[in-house]
Amino acid sequence: MNASQPPSPGRAADDLASYHPMSPAVQEDPYPIYRHLRAYEPVKYIADLNGYAVSRNVDVRAVLLNHALFSSDPLIQLAFGEGNPAPEAQYMIAADPPDHTRLRTLVNKAFSRRMLETQRPQIVRIVDALLDEAAERQAFDFVECIASPLPVNIIGQIMGIETSMRATFRRWSNNVTAGGNAGTLTDEQRAAIHADRDDFRQYFLERIAAVRRRPGDDLISALVAAEEGGDQLTADEVLALCVLLLIGGNETTTSLLSNALVALRDFPEQERLVRGNRALVPRLTEETLRHNSPIQVLFRRATSDTEIAGVRIPENSIVLPIFGSANRDEAVFERPDVLDVERPDLRHHVAFGWGIHMCVGRALALLEGELAINHLFDRFDRIEITQPEIHWCDAFYLRSPKELRVLCR
Ligand code: HEM
Repeated sequence: MNASQPPSPGRAADDLASYHPMSPAVQEDPYPIYRHLRAYEPVKYIADLNGYAVSRNVDVRAVLLNHALFSSDPLIQLAFGEGNPAPEAQYMIAADPPDHTRLRTLVNKAFSRRMLETQRPQIVRIVDALLDEAAERQAFDFVECIASPLPVNIIGQIMGIETSMRATFRRWSNNVTAGGNAGTLTDEQRAAIHADRDDFRQYFLERIAAVRRRPGDDLISALVAAEEGGDQLTADEVLALCVLLLIGGNETTTSLLSNALVALRDFPEQERLVRGNRALVPRLTEETLRHNSPIQVLFRRATSDTEIAGVRIPENSIVLPIFGSANRDEAVFERPDVLDVERPDLRHHVAFGWGIHMCVGRALALLEGELAINHLFDRFDRIEITQPEIHWCDAFYLRSPKELRVLCR
């Protein structure tokens, strides 16, 4: 695509040119707008955020790789605001080296492939139990019955959290992230956020103290025990990691599972292909992540004056790498709007990020996606989305259906 091409049909040029990550038009269907940005304004200034949105794959990767020039430090304040249960702690996702290196080294020791393998039988049981319940109903909301509880129950299991607490976690997680919408909160919402934030903090500090006295084989015990050269995580650092693992992995995986069903509805020949060759299920999971990325956009801060694609970025500006656009970039992906599990260029997607902050939960998310899709295919010959229109969730950084009414046979 080049600058002389006309804008996509179906939307007025003005509409396409007015990208804002929080606008309803972007929430409804961001992809024509991203296409327009990549072609005409690959680095777009957004005045009220004092931010520069970066939409081409090559520039998004460059931003994610250059952590010295593009710091992650604004991430937590922008995402959690007053909902932050560990305001004193350094969050790994918002840390730059050397702090990030230290935290990531310790986390990698606890959240390892071996831990995942050990937990695999329990993970399979959780997926099975949710599908058993759903199969009895046939018609249900896929988000509420499967996509949302599945990752919460699994991370709850891995962290050693009582089953009875898992619904409470969903509420706590929602309220922690709702704290990021500071400008639009009512007094009542603010009070609920503060209460849940404080309960979240207290619950985990108590758990951390308990596993210090009596360690188990769960992830919190592993984080408390992780040690490198005599260095260990403090209680507040473990708390911040619990927040990240609970929140970072839940909405994103819910989105992956729901988006997979939407993709299969829109590309039925891909469903036939994958049902006929189950070895393609892992590729379907990754291709769904590329095609409709759960995390659409995040933040960085420019640490000094710089330039991206010829546009000057002053020191301290916010930079917004648009993952959802980088993954549809026609310069990298052939027919980027088409779901194609056999595409040769799949490895260039950035749905899990790139560089030092590349997702810690990648292997777990892929396992959850594969297990869920395989078990759905095993149980149901047909999965039909029965609602006429899909409404996408309000969180601006996330692309996930609010509900997904299905009929399964
Ligand atoms: C489909 C599901 C998922 C998607 C699309 C996803 C996406 C991402 C992305 C894009 C980043 C990079 C953030 C950045 O560069 O600023 C990231 C980092 C992270 N993710 Fe995920 N994630 C998923 C699942 C999970 C799960 C299951 C967990 C844990 C249970 C998790 C925990 C984390 C953590 C802790 C980080 C921070 C890593 C660091 O700063 O070094 N994620 N994820």
